[in-house]
Amino acid sequence: MLAVSGLKKGFGSGRRRLEVLKGIDLKIESGELVALMGPSGCGKSTLLNIIGGLLEADSGSISLTDFEYGTYPPNRVVDVRRKGVGWIFQDYHLIDRLSALDNVIFALELAGVPSAQAESQAMDALRKVGLSDRMNFIPDQLSGGQRQRVAIARAISGSRPLILADEPTGNLDVKSAEGILDLFKELCEDYGISVLMVTHDPNLASKADRMLLLRDGVTAASDIRSAWGEGGNP
Ligand SMILES: Nc1ncnc2c1ncn2[C@@H]1O[C@H](COP(=O)(O)OP(=O)(O)OP(=O)(O)O)[C@@H](O)[C@H]1O
Ligand SMILES: [Mg+2]
Repeated sequence: MLAVSGLKKGFGSGRRRLEVLKGIDLKIESGELVALMGPSGCGKSTLLNIIGGLLEADSGSISLTDFEYGTYPPNRVVDVRRKGVGWIFQDYHLIDRLSALDNVIFALELAGVPSAQAESQAMDALRKVGLSDRMNFIPDQLSGGQRQRVAIARAISGSRPLILADEPTGNLDVKSAEGILDLFKELCEDYGISVLMVTHDPNLASKADRMLLLRDGVTAASDIRSAWGEGGNP
């Protein structure tokens, strides 16, 4: 479903040059929930941004379903952003004045879905995340966990095959965070959606199908102890 190979990315030039990603190889299958861990500043968000078509790599390649990219600038991967990936952020990124339903519809319309179709797709996505009875609430009237569910509905609407979640539970209490993980699992199992999720919480990471540790510019399969930094080199 997703294959990343030999991906490299650095910032700056000359003596200020910082090599962040030094040759990332990873694969994610359909329906897989993968946790990405690693120390602050190791390049987790950078990797997600490149996979999500928001940033170009210096070298390497990505194949996501039918999309082939990696080093193309963001203006050449519009379709990856419209149809390939859905994003979820720590702080939800919802529009305050729009209802849950209109938040999802709005995103679909931006992706080019005609209005009539957007409404039914949005309702369908909100149903899948368990918010059928909250569709007309604005974010202020929803709990943190419910807001994140709206963001998840937005991410899966329009049947995008891959969800990129950058610390999706960072603002949630333990119980809501676990609820979000359970929802991810359900979406993976029931609809074959794949999720790549950055988290700093080893308990949540252990609920994923697989964990990847990003350290020193490369990814390695990991267990909890090495992600904690206690297990030596993975
Ligand atoms: N646009 C940029 N210009 C220069 N340096 C950048 C840029 N974006 C990221 N970096 C640097 O690249 C490194 C990786 O940043 P990134 O945000 O990917 O880390 P992260 O693993 O997501 O960290 P955190 O866990 O704190 O979110 C950092 O040293 C950061 O300062
Ligand atoms: Mg980050």
